[in-house]
Amino acid sequence: MNLLFTLSITASIALSLPTNKTSSNLKWHTCPTHAEQKAGLDCAELNVPLDWSNPNNGKTMTLSMNRWPAKDPKTRIGALIHNPGGPGLAATDMVLDFARGSTYWGEDLRRFDLIGLDPRGVGRSSPIKCSPDLWNARPSQLVHSEEEFDKLIEHNRNFALSCLNRTGELVKHIDTLSVARDMDALRIALGEEKINFYGQSYGTQIGGAYAELFPQKYRAMALDGNVDHSLTEVPTVVSEAYGYEAVWNHFVTWCNETEDCALRGQDINAEFDKLLDEAFKSPLHVPECEDPDSGCRPSVRPEDITGSVQSTLDSKFVPKGYDQDIPTWRSLAKDLAKAFKGDYTPFAPGVAQDETSDLWSQQLVNCLDWEHNASSAADLIHQTQFMFHAAPHTRGLAQAYGVNSMCAGWPFPVPDPPHVDIVKGDAAPVFLLNSFFDPETPFDQAVSLQRQLKGSVLVANREDGHTTYQYAGEGARLMEAYLVNLTLPAAVTVVDS
Ligand SMILES: *[C@@H]1O[C@H](CO)[C@@H](O)[C@H](O)[C@H]1NC(C)=O
Ligand SMILES: *[C@@H]1O[C@H](CO)[C@@H](O)[C@H](O)[C@H]1NC(C)=O
Ligand SMILES: *[C@@H]1O[C@H](CO)[C@@H](O)[C@H](O)[C@H]1NC(C)=O
Ligand SMILES: *[C@@H]1O[C@H](CO)[C@@H](O)[C@H](O)[C@H]1NC(C)=O
Ligand SMILES: *[C@@H]1O[C@H](CO)[C@@H](O)[C@H](O)[C@H]1NC(C)=O
Repeated sequence: MNLLFTLSITASIALSLPTNKTSSNLKWHTCPTHAEQKAGLDCAELNVPLDWSNPNNGKTMTLSMNRWPAKDPKTRIGALIHNPGGPGLAATDMVLDFARGSTYWGEDLRRFDLIGLDPRGVGRSSPIKCSPDLWNARPSQLVHSEEEFDKLIEHNRNFALSCLNRTGELVKHIDTLSVARDMDALRIALGEEKINFYGQSYGTQIGGAYAELFPQKYRAMALDGNVDHSLTEVPTVVSEAYGYEAVWNHFVTWCNETEDCALRGQDINAEFDKLLDEAFKSPLHVPECEDPDSGCRPSVRPEDITGSVQSTLDSKFVPKGYDQDIPTWRSLAKDLAKAFKGDYTPFAPGVAQDETSDLWSQQLVNCLDWEHNASSAADLIHQTQFMFHAAPHTRGLAQAYGVNSMCAGWPFPVPDPPHVDIVKGDAAPVFLLNSFFDPETPFDQAVSLQRQLKGSVLVANREDGHTTYQYAGEGARLMEAYLVNLTLPAAVTVVDS
């Protein structure tokens, strides 16, 4: 049996490798930043084909990574690759945070070499460059007429072309299937038969794509805060609208019951509805942002408010052991209290100053991974009607609708459109973790992803929030037991934290 197993692994390596261009042996060297050096990390680069659908055309690009080596080589289990999500967040930054102890990382996981591989176009891996001026001039995502729709489409095209002009062909190849192929190139370069993977949020989509393409090339895969990449345009919007609104409702109840919540005793829903209704009528004005050096935009649109509220709902409280000050439900209440009194500063969007930004790789990846077929104002208005009904307070005005509106008219093909990632055959099981009430990756998406990943288990967290591992609670313990010992809980397991 052992022999057969070995043979089949060898055969599938040969089959899944169209080219060997990627198999440079990694040369680990001193990292570029002092912080990484101090934290004991080392760094490496890997060259991969620019276009995985045409890997032999000679065009390559460079990926960057850092590594926090296993604590004791004698008990080392293997390589654990991390992705923190976004899309657009740099894994190298996150691994540095883990190694510095500024966010939570369990001692048992020190048995892995933890590798932060910045996905193509992100962080230090050939970051995407676009025109900041065009970004700053972007029109509203909400359109009322064909004329406004045409303006939006023209803007989207011009922005995309500015990225092509400044970055090159890479802008067409940062889709998640390409990212998954890069990860397998890394596995080969590391000389590992199988890798381990921990993905948060959008990182779960990378994991799903990897499981689909390379079902036998991972030992363990833990996905926390799950994206279901089988949903098409309108269902994505509706799923997110319900998920976000439900957490908003929990926030309102929590605030009313919490001694030091800034809005305690107020009719939060009525005030919030009024705020958004005004922003829908015309952008809200922030005098402090008139100054060009302020770094913020003086006009606040509804999507600026709902986008900011959504991401702040991610964290009910600061996880124990964090030495970072992150926005939480308490700070959200303070920000809303200001806005209800006419000070909209907390919701004024930032102004892009440079050619690079996380936001752009986020938009570009999304435009390559998701359908965005709206071809008239009526198509977008159709979506908003569902959103407004599903989410009467937050209006469903969140990330998915942002993708559908800001990618409409995108001038490049969609290499990784939504599809059901049915993992066939004897793929290793996957460990899924999700809050019942998650404002960004709603629980229903974890349920449908579980059904696509054969043999996988879903651990549901009763505590609200986006991703669970950082709370170092029961869910984290189960995830560690799985990553370290391959111990799987029951297919459906509910935890309190
Ligand atoms: C491809 O890489 C593998 C592993 O590094 C090596 O054993 C093999 O000889 C390489 N093949 C070619 C054609 O370079
Ligand atoms: C590309 O950028 C150059 C300068 O950076 C500019 O002159 C040119 O007009 C741009 N082309 C397009 C198509 O945006
Ligand atoms: C707020 O709490 C009070 C009593 O503590 C309750 O009567 C009221 O219905 C609550 N309001 C909301 C919106 O939950
Ligand atoms: C949307 O566009 C994709 C290509 O991006 C296409 O495959 C799909 O059929 C389109 N869906 C609809 C409903 O038109
Ligand atoms: C893995 O199993 C060993 C032996 O049973 C146990 O001591 C250890 O605590 C387990 N690790 C985790 C992370 O659960």
